[in-house]
Amino acid sequence: MADTVTVPPVGHVTEAPRRDLLKLVTVASAAIGAGAIAWPLIDSMNPSQDVLALSATEVDLTPIAEGSGITVLWRGKPIFVRHRTPEEIKSAEDVPLNQLIEPQPDSQRVKPGHTQWIIVIGICTHLGCVPLGNKPTDPRGEWGGWFCPCHGSQYDTSGRVRHGPAPLNLNLPPYAFETDTKIKIG
Ligand code: FES
Repeated sequence: MADTVTVPPVGHVTEAPRRDLLKLVTVASAAIGAGAIAWPLIDSMNPSQDVLALSATEVDLTPIAEGSGITVLWRGKPIFVRHRTPEEIKSAEDVPLNQLIEPQPDSQRVKPGHTQWIIVIGICTHLGCVPLGNKPTDPRGEWGGWFCPCHGSQYDTSGRVRHGPAPLNLNLPPYAFETDTKIKIG
């Protein structure tokens, strides 16, 4: 069972048992120390306005060959931009939803009229590793999407988890097509 610390009333500190007083001083010092560390950390998590203004990333899709993909950084996160083949699109669209760990139709994960492009946040939903699969020479797993080497999770060509331990599909970043060959993420 955890020890409790008795806080002596003001003016009666000298009456407190020495053991309790020492504990009180230790706890108080630890609290001050934790506060001093936590604040800069919390503060650094709040991006300033100028950082937020620069937080959109434009990507030229022209050089990305069919069947291949690239990784770009957006707000410090890897974003996979992948150019799907007709076969990859078809397999993503045709899978019965009851076979999926997190059922979601492909149509909800791509933009209408641009179904050849799948754009996902490249962070495994298990423990946060960056999966492999953007290059055609990478291992892509049984479902042809991405393979996480950390614990073996596999994702399909829509970025949906097909084999755990990852519990969820790869997340989607906010993005829009500015033209047929250019997207803006963020
Ligand atoms: S972090 Fe990807 S499988 Fe564990």
